[in-house]
Amino acid sequence: MRTHYCTDLNEKSVGEEVTLAGWVNSYRDHGGVIFIDLRDKSGLIQLVCDPADNEQAHKVASQIRDEFVVIAKGKVRLRGEGLENPRLETGKIEVVIDDLEIENRSEPMPFTLGDPNVGEDIRLRYRYLDLRQKQMYDTFRLRSKAAIAARNLLDSLGFLEVETPILTKSTPEGARDYLVPSRVHNGEFYALPQSPQLFKQLLMVAGFDRYFQIAKCFRDEDLRADRQPEFTQIDVEMSFCDQEDVMKVAEDLLAAIFSACGREISTPFNRITYRESMEKYGNDRPDLRFGLELVDVIDLFEGCDSPIFAEIAQYKKLNRIKALKVPGGDNAFSRKTIKELESFVSKFGAKGLAYIQVKEEGLKGPILKFLSEEAIETMKSRLDLQVGDIVFFGAGERKIVWDYMGRLRVEVAKRLNMIDEERLEFVWVVDFPMFELEEGELHLKALHHPFTMPKNIDEEDIEAIDSIAYDVVLNGIELGGGSIRIHKLDIQRKVFKMLGISEEEADEKFGFLLDALKFGAPPHGGFALGFDRLMMLLGKKESIRDVIAFPKTQSATCLLTHAPGPVDEEQLKELGIRIRRTPKSDAPK
Ligand code: AMO
Repeated sequence: MRTHYCTDLNEKSVGEEVTLAGWVNSYRDHGGVIFIDLRDKSGLIQLVCDPADNEQAHKVASQIRDEFVVIAKGKVRLRGEGLENPRLETGKIEVVIDDLEIENRSEPMPFTLGDPNVGEDIRLRYRYLDLRQKQMYDTFRLRSKAAIAARNLLDSLGFLEVETPILTKSTPEGARDYLVPSRVHNGEFYALPQSPQLFKQLLMVAGFDRYFQIAKCFRDEDLRADRQPEFTQIDVEMSFCDQEDVMKVAEDLLAAIFSACGREISTPFNRITYRESMEKYGNDRPDLRFGLELVDVIDLFEGCDSPIFAEIAQYKKLNRIKALKVPGGDNAFSRKTIKELESFVSKFGAKGLAYIQVKEEGLKGPILKFLSEEAIETMKSRLDLQVGDIVFFGAGERKIVWDYMGRLRVEVAKRLNMIDEERLEFVWVVDFPMFELEEGELHLKALHHPFTMPKNIDEEDIEAIDSIAYDVVLNGIELGGGSIRIHKLDIQRKVFKMLGISEEEADEKFGFLLDALKFGAPPHGGFALGFDRLMMLLGKKESIRDVIAFPKTQSATCLLTHAPGPVDEEQLKELGIRIRRTPKSDAPK
């Protein structure tokens, strides 16, 4: 229907007869002459309908309202002197209309496009309108470019794109499954895949050698700004490879995607071990755009005069006392700010937030009285304390201390504007422990997943068994992860056993994988990148919802379609299902 998109036109097009099609972004009636800002996917252009030029077109133009769909024919001309609009790509020109057709009408919009004060719920309810904004289109254009770049790069490296099932059995990635009831097999359920993990391993047993898929994954877990119940992974697996080979493919893939989106990144990325990351940054997804490393000071509290700190310092394996020095923080933070930081960490299990201020006249802070002169001197030199600094202390069980001190580190950096938003800090986290002992539970849990190859399975100290697993982190967000897999049956059985999975349960749940390992499984490994998270970072968006065309809310509902919703009694009957409502108090959080 059209000859051009709006922004195809420029000063060189002056004099051309064109046909444009799109939506009325806005219109103004200036004493008879009607100006229309026409919008299509490319952007805006001004149309002019002057009754003196064309009475019929002007008559049609006088009926239009915002968001009407129109087809306009006319001639491109330069705007008059002083009438240019520098904010518009096509701001130097306009199209004088000789024929205007209203193709469809629109009711008044439920919200103004682009209004920052409009709530997300109304935008999600009318997502197709929200998506009309140019910046939304640009987000999805970037996403499409990234997906194509990923496909091209992987294709050039000999990877085959294969689709794996959506109606399948549970894959343990640590979240709850979404279940789909079977009509044919009443009382039985499919699980939607949490990832294509097991199928991609089977493709390696099949000899496909190199696989990839831009795969939908489903996880019923607590949602956050960077999580959705249904999300996309760029999923990769390869055979006869070691950790270095896999990491190289992941780096090349990321470099190709970033480059296609207009940002060059340098590879290889830095590496940090899991243990170092936990000790220095409090988590396994360190944001390395700023310093503020946590420093161990537990030894300085050994036998100190505070019974609480002394007790904590007795158990060095399970407890930590960590110091976070904020250079210049004593000058920057008021008493009120410090109180706010204290209440911030208390949300994550801190019982308080001790601190020391470094004043001209010396150190100041209530915990100093518990420490020996020698300990204070060691602290001064270990932390390289300078006048104006403040040091926060976290003490207690290590997991809790890591967590809240890691969060405090980021919170402090945000408050002091220490984070350069333009910087991209990639890092590989490597040498993950194989197992994790869940607090208060006797069972071990696989830190990645139970198909990850252990480095030293025969090690007696379970905490010292490492896995050949790696995560790629960008600016404090886990972008992806992977591992070398277990390809030998005896090791897989041993790992299941250590995880407390009985032989019967393993056969019932993963019998097909165990069978496949009996028939010449090659050494293999791979990784998956969270594609939505990647696009969120590339597009500098606050939330993962901004890069998903039809996302779900934090409570996993779709405001547009109202999914999930009830179904007919008849449908339930066919499925052999009777609904028993979970009382609100028993409902899982
Ligand atoms: P993992 O569970 O680490 O690994 O997932 C890989 C990446 O997927 C992204 N991701 C999510 N993105 C949005 N919403 C979610 N709910 C969500 N959950 C995960 C993250 C994460 O790093 N099968 C393994 C990969 C492998 O070993 O090859 C797996 O799925 O960016």
